[in-house]
Amino acid sequence: YRKYSAFEPIRLTDRTWPDKTLTQAPDWCSVDLRDGNQALVNPMSVEQKTRLFELLVKLGFKEIEVGFPSASKPDFDFVRKLVDEQRIPDDVTIQVLTQAREELIKRTYEAMSGVKKAVIHVYNSTSTVQREQVFGQSREGIKAIAVQGAKWVQQYAQQHPDTEWSFQYSPESFSGTEMDYAIEVCDAVIEQWQPESGRDIIINLPATVEMSTPNRFADQVEYFCRHLVNRKYVRISLHTHNDRGCAVAAAELGVLAGADRIEGTLMGNGERTGNMDVITMGMNLYSQGVDPKLDFSDIMEINEVVESCTGIPVGVRHPWAGELVYTAFSGSHQDAIRKSVNYHTEHKKQHWDVAYLPIDPRDIGREYEAVVRINSQSGKGGVALVLERDYDISLPKWMHFPLSRVVQGAAEQSGVEVSPTNIKRLFDEHFISV
Ligand code: KIV
Ligand code: ZN
Repeated sequence: YRKYSAFEPIRLTDRTWPDKTLTQAPDWCSVDLRDGNQALVNPMSVEQKTRLFELLVKLGFKEIEVGFPSASKPDFDFVRKLVDEQRIPDDVTIQVLTQAREELIKRTYEAMSGVKKAVIHVYNSTSTVQREQVFGQSREGIKAIAVQGAKWVQQYAQQHPDTEWSFQYSPESFSGTEMDYAIEVCDAVIEQWQPESGRDIIINLPATVEMSTPNRFADQVEYFCRHLVNRKYVRISLHTHNDRGCAVAAAELGVLAGADRIEGTLMGNGERTGNMDVITMGMNLYSQGVDPKLDFSDIMEINEVVESCTGIPVGVRHPWAGELVYTAFSGSHQDAIRKSVNYHTEHKKQHWDVAYLPIDPRDIGREYEAVVRINSQSGKGGVALVLERDYDISLPKWMHFPLSRVVQGAAEQSGVEVSPTNIKRLFDEHFISV
């Protein structure tokens, strides 16, 4: 194998995939520092937020929601730090959340004063449940709040002409909203922002609580995109949560249904069961040969920064990133990997196509050495592979079985994994005469 210093997604493109698949990455917006942060038992300190922000920039995020500065003093201070210390690269746009209330919008602009480019993100809840039970508002009342919010945002933007302002509106609880009503509200909001002027306007459709199978959510997105009068003037963004465990699937199908942009977090941190996990969706694209436009080539660094900033450990079976995802414990898997890796090398295959390993672990900075572990479940092939890999000992086929019996016996007795050193010791004791 050659070593890959950079992230090279094109290596997988010789695979054929069904027509209905993603062929390019959406625009990404990280909400780690806002949705992710608001869901932590101990919210991030300004230092932790700065560290995570720097990681997000390094990974290639061009849009980053950095907080809710009108609602939280640490968020306000963090935005000021980013602006005053000129920590925002020219090609990165920061985004901040606010409710559609004048004093909050005014305060939001104070926090953002001096920034080069920014998105002001206004939300209010539109679903039947929220309208009736939480806000006691009619459809007209909720629409008026959204439109008034957009007016204030525009009015204050005019008072800060040195910044390139974008506007984002989220009909919170979109997936629980009657679609024709969601469209009516969003069209009315867009019209406040003179869409023909060419300004960047984002309509962000949240599955605030995931309530249906992903195909249902995608149907809603498709209907919305088809019927929104001002569709051509706006980017459609999705913001899915993971209550049913399908936030990534909902986002993927939502992009197939017409969305342009996805909001999510690293490892899926966020309210309750979390937000859509950008690592999973990005790596899903990568494994299909689609450039995710985010650099996950050092997944261990990502794990380390996320864990230290959020205080939440990355699960050992977390898709693509977990400690155990490039291991094979079962003997038949180990044997298949060994054969497949050898075949790959012998045939000088350019494209990764190895049994049980959807990608080359080294593409994300993981070591192939970690793939095979030997315990009581392992078979003969795995033990031989460890000797070959770690000690350059190539055993004749007839020795695989007797050696694996010895190693399995040791594993059964101890009940734990047998390390490569112990395998070598057992090999020496039983097969090398002194
Ligand atoms: O989940 C949600 O609806 C949100 C909105 C504020 C976009 O986080
Ligand atoms: Zn959210």
